Amino acid sequence: MKEQMKTEILKLKKEKNAVILSHYYAPDEIQEIADYVGDSFYLAKVARKSTADIIVFCGVYFMGESAKILNPDKKVLMPDLTADCPMAHMASIGKIEEMRNQYEDLAVVCYINSTAGLKAESDVCVTSSNAISIVKSLPNQNIFFIPDKNLGSFVAENVPEKNIILNDGCCPIHAAITAKEVKEEKQQHPNALVLTHPECEAEILDISDYIGSTAELIAYVLESTCEEFIICTEYGVEFKLMGDNPTKKFYFPKTCPCCSDMKLNTLEKLLHVLKTEENEIKVNDELRKSALVPLDRMLELAR
Ligand code: 13P
Ligand code: SF4
Repeated sequence: MKEQMKTEILKLKKEKNAVILSHYYAPDEIQEIADYVGDSFYLAKVARKSTADIIVFCGVYFMGESAKILNPDKKVLMPDLTADCPMAHMASIGKIEEMRNQYEDLAVVCYINSTAGLKAESDVCVTSSNAISIVKSLPNQNIFFIPDKNLGSFVAENVPEKNIILNDGCCPIHAAITAKEVKEEKQQHPNALVLTHPECEAEILDISDYIGSTAELIAYVLESTCEEFIICTEYGVEFKLMGDNPTKKFYFPKTCPCCSDMKLNTLEKLLHVLKTEENEIKVNDELRKSALVPLDRMLELAR
């Protein structure tokens, strides 16, 4: 059944000049069939440059929406339009206005995990793989970092020369990882290195050997001579980690981090949207143009 679906997907993809993008948190079967699998920054760059007629984005809504903003002439589809990142909504335009009134030189730095409406009110977007270098490069002294307080405080630690104002939002999946569970894993596997996504809370970052975006964690494992790793991020990364490193061992916190929104991407739904071209992402032109400015600035500064 699955094999038949995969054959149909590949056939339709070719016929329609479509390209499939997948985040590392999407289910294994999706990563397996995708043309490009990566972290948020890599996927944004792929979406920007794509020459395909249709982009099928297997991730969460802000990712598909960013692809549409960056490449408006393409048809951008998602297997499930309800796959949404709760953190993307955890900031407010009112609070941005309040901060702008308070600080004359304020830069609003917006994690890409955010709605187009929030991006449109921001000065620059960042992802977890470029946030530190982009914030460092800004001329502004005062930075309002939205929506993720955990990534924001990681940036603040690494850019102490700036005043980073945090916003009260976070990823519920990463924030649910506890230091207690990570320490338990470490006790059971004392030789394992702890690798952590910066969306986790500071107490996890403090006991980690390496902190990075999903792609950075994957690259770190590939280069490491260590054989065992405790992975503090969503467990979808295991597919790539095991594929790249069949002899290495990977452990996740006992309460396994699972993003239910990412898991809404299935082969059935992917096939359905390729067939019907339903679930197209639309962004009104005015909003699109405003949200493009900080996204473009990110791509420029991160070059
Ligand atoms: P990265 O893949 O950019 O590390 O982002 C993690 C994430 O939570 C995406 O939603
Ligand atoms: Fe959003 Fe967290 Fe899911 Fe990433 S893992 S899409 S930040 S809820």
